[in-house]
Formats: sequence, structure tokens, C-alpha cells
Amino acid sequence: MTTYAHITGWGMAVPEKILTNNDISKMVNTSDEWIKERTGIEQRRIAGPEDSTASLASAAALEALKVANVSPRDVDLIIVATSTPEHIFPATASLVQDEIGAINAGAFDISAACTGFIFALNMATQIIKGGENKTVLVIGSETLSRFLDWSDRGTCIIFGDGAGAFVLQASEKPGGVISSVMRSDGSGGDLLSIPAGGSAHPASPRTIREGLHYIQMNGREVYRFATKVMARSSEEVLEKANWELKDISLIIPHQANKRIIKAAARGLKVSMDKIMVNVQKYGNTSTASIPIATVEAIDNGRLNRDDKIIFVGFGGGLTWGALSVIWTGPFPTEKAVPFKRLGFFARLFSWYQRLLRRLEGLIWGRKDSSG
Ligand code: COA
Repeated sequence: MTTYAHITGWGMAVPEKILTNNDISKMVNTSDEWIKERTGIEQRRIAGPEDSTASLASAAALEALKVANVSPRDVDLIIVATSTPEHIFPATASLVQDEIGAINAGAFDISAACTGFIFALNMATQIIKGGENKTVLVIGSETLSRFLDWSDRGTCIIFGDGAGAFVLQASEKPGGVISSVMRSDGSGGDLLSIPAGGSAHPASPRTIREGLHYIQMNGREVYRFATKVMARSSEEVLEKANWELKDISLIIPHQANKRIIKAAARGLKVSMDKIMVNVQKYGNTSTASIPIATVEAIDNGRLNRDDKIIFVGFGGGLTWGALSVIWTGPFPTEKAVPFKRLGFFARLFSWYQRLLRRLEGLIWGRKDSSG
């Protein structure tokens, strides 16, 4: 019997603070008109001191679990796709696991820049199809504003912060993620990167002086690459699913730039009303852009049960990929999950685990010194 991975829950979380193009034009030599014309972006959200990649991810994850009516305790695995993790390690996914009280879940991060959410969704699908897990939480979350050089007008106008999440569940009923395309061309790695902070250039006074902890981008080259791969990978994923473009009700692309999305639409010969665009509201939120656009497509009535859709993305690496999906929606469930109470127990459990570790440390410490 074949197992399918259905998308049964979705959620998003964005910081409160809105930064408009006009606000940015007071910081660097640019204008609302220029940014709108070249990118379609009008505003973006910026993380406040209380926000982090893990906190936004946890908020989006809880929303998604509520839609699916799935308890955090029933989650088998959490995958966080992010370009701006809380730390090199531990994984942001482990922090989310603790925060939401997913006490039975494994957790890890995926790094594939803005394509990360597509790759993570595919990974979750294959794990479910292979029978290893039944319920997987896939999250894209970013605080890109913390990695921006706010004096570089080539990058600071583009990116924004936010998170989006899906719940994937196993079922023998056909549907969910049907086919996938995952690609990379590492020869273009230098076109979009954060050069320092990893093992190639560990943090040092020099890396800070030279601004190597900031996002660096060759905008023109990335633009050319993106316009090529969006249409191509959409066509490939359709062919793999044995579908035709006319079967598709909506394409949800990575929200990087409205001109790139329009070029992809021209390449595919589809009208823009078949393509979800909300880059004007959030800018490029990297791994979070596809799930955030999905949540808004649902809220606007543009995505319904049994619709055939495509997710398509590209990003640093270089990486690109696409998925064909039959949209499902929540599985029927009997009792509402008591999220409030579970949230309290999640905090209590986390506190108890820390206390236990401290007590164990004390006991072992005493034994070591006496033995
Ligand atoms: N405001 C005003 N002028 C700007 C500017 C800004 N924010 N950024 C660049 N310019 C200027 C440049 O200095 C250049 O001036 P010059 O002709 O006097 O040298 C001119 O505008 C054109 O620069 P160019 O880099 O060719 O602009 P562009 O049309 O390619 O637009 C991007 C720049 C970054 C908007 C565009 O290349 C882009 O969107 N690339 C893809 C980026 C992306 O999607 N990244 C994420 C991938 S996941």
C-alpha cells in the first residue's frame, strides 16, 4: 500500500514592526519608486528585540498544529529550513521542539538558502512515504534583518523577517506532495552568501571590520539565474507528476522579486492570476516566503481542497527546486486539542528537564570528586 504525505496544517508569524521603502530611503540612497519598480516590494517586517528565528518558527508551528488539530506530542519530526539559524548549533529545530513541547519528536535544520523550504518539504514527504514517521512539522523561519548591512542598498531593500509552517501527515489516500525537483549549482555559491561566521572565516576582528558577516549578493547574476530556473523546474515537476499546466490552479513561487515572478510566468505562458504574489507586503523572507504566501492564498480563497498546485523556489547555493501538490487541508478529527494546557505543560516539562540535569550534575560532580 502506498503512503502519501498530505499537508494538513499551515501557519505563519511575522514581527509587528513594518519598515516601508520610504523608511529605508532615509537610511540609504534609494526611493520608494525605485524599489517598487525593480522589485515590487513596498514594505517588509523587521524582528524586534523579543523576536528570534526560533520564536517566530514556534509561533508559526503552533498555528499550523492548531489548523491540523494535532498535538505537539504527536509530532514525530521537526525540520526547520533557515538561512539565519539561531546558532551554528544547536539546531533551531531543537529549540522549537522544546518551546512547543513536541516531546516525542526528532529535530534538525536544513540549509539550502531560500530553496530550503522546498527541500525540507520534500525530505518530510520522503520520510513519511518511507514509513519512518507519520506526522512531520516543516518550518521556514528567518531573521534576515540581523544579517543585513543597512548601508548596502543592493541588499537591505530586499529582505524581510518572518516564519511559515506546514504540518504533513501520512495517509493511504492519494494526494499531498506528488513529485519533486531538487537541484544545485555550487559553482555560483559566491553570488549570494554570508561569507563569515562558519569554519572558512570564523568570527574575528578582521571579518567584522570587513563586514563579512553580512549578506552579500550579486543582484544582476542572481536575477538572471532565477529567471532561468523558475520556469524550467516548474515544467520538470509537472512532467514528473504527469500533469499539464492547464491542470494547475495556482503556482506559489518563492517571493523574491515581482519582476522575476513575472518573467517566470512569461516563460511558462501562464497569466499572473494563476500565480500567488505577496512580496509587496513582506519582501524576500527566504525560506519563509512560500509558506507565508500559502497561508495568505488560503485566507484569500485562492487555494482550496483538491486543487493541484506547484511550489517553486530558488536561492543561494545556488539551489532551486519545485514540488507538485494536491492540496488537502485538515484531516477530520474528533476532539479539539487543548493547546493552552499543553503549552503550560511544555514549559513545565522544559523547566523540569533543566532542573533534573542540574541535580544530576551535582550528584555526579560529588561522586567524581569523592571517587
Ligand atoms: N536604489 C537606487 N538605485 C539602486 C539601488 C537602490 N536600492 N540598488 C542599485 N541601484 C542602482 C545601481 O547602483 C545601478 O546604478 P548605475 O547604473 O549608476 O551603476 C542601477 O541602480 C542598476 O543596478 P542593477 O544592480 O543593475 O539593478 P537591478 O535592476 O539589477 O536591480 C536588484 C537590483 C537587486 C533589485 C535586482 O538585481 C534583483 O532583484 N536581483 C535578484 C535578487 C534576489 O532575488 N535575491 C534573492 C534570491 S533568493
